[in-house]
Amino acid sequence: MPDLHRRRSVSQTRLSEILVAALDGWSVDHPGREVVDLGGGTGGMAIGLGERGYRVRVVDPSPDALAALGRRTAEVHLNDSVSGLQGDATDLVEVVGATSTDLVVCHKVLEVVDDPGQALAAIRTVLRPGGALSLVVTQRHAAVLTQAIGGHIAQAHRTWAAPGMFDRDQVLTLVRRAGFEVVATRGVGAIADHVAESVLDSEAGAHAELLALEAAVATDAAFQALAPLLHVFALRSS
Ligand SMILES: C[S@@+](CC[C@H](N)C(=O)[O-])C[C@H]1O[C@@H](n2cnc3c(N)ncnc32)[C@H](O)[C@@H]1O
Repeated sequence: MPDLHRRRSVSQTRLSEILVAALDGWSVDHPGREVVDLGGGTGGMAIGLGERGYRVRVVDPSPDALAALGRRTAEVHLNDSVSGLQGDATDLVEVVGATSTDLVVCHKVLEVVDDPGQALAAIRTVLRPGGALSLVVTQRHAAVLTQAIGGHIAQAHRTWAAPGMFDRDQVLTLVRRAGFEVVATRGVGAIADHVAESVLDSEAGAHAELLALEAAVATDAAFQALAPLLHVFALRSS
């Protein structure tokens, strides 16, 4: 299975591991299984959650993404537990209903919406008391570094200047202001995204070593600041 040895798969695997660990801890006190995946696209995360017994409503503005989601859920026989709804952050409450879900997944979406504060407020509104938010944002320091190292200096400069990309402190401030208590943060890809593919292809065991190293540095503040992705697990404050 050659794809297992691609470096991007390290970040994807880590993201799944982080979410599953967070859910295992949270579900001890909160047995609810209803999930809304805002901007869930073609269902990368929703299908995995469906396979773990969650009922997932994917809300996305893209008809193409929702069509692809429908084909994927049919292939894995999850039509009963994973469904698609057309909508976005601005009409989330109308589309799924207030206090209608136990968990909202919002991965790599906050940076594409017009008003991140509104999106987080809507997410809080659709959550039941004790409900949780799994948030993933793309971080600007890592994006600037990656673009510059790749030779795209002007693009890196534009990324640095552009609004809409967050860093760790900005995200945590937004999440707390919207009425959430931050339970855990993890960096994803701080090391894996900079390791050459050739290292993973040529050295036996390098993929597993890289996964272990990513896990070891994920809670370190300096590595979190440099990670391409930041995962935030937060609970709706009462
Ligand atoms: C980068 S993709 C992330 C997809 C998926 N969450 C993931 O982690 O792979 C961004 C997704 O956000 C959706 N999107 C764009 N604008 C949105 C909005 N205003 N509200 C909600 N979702 C939006 C896009 O259609 C797309 O599926």
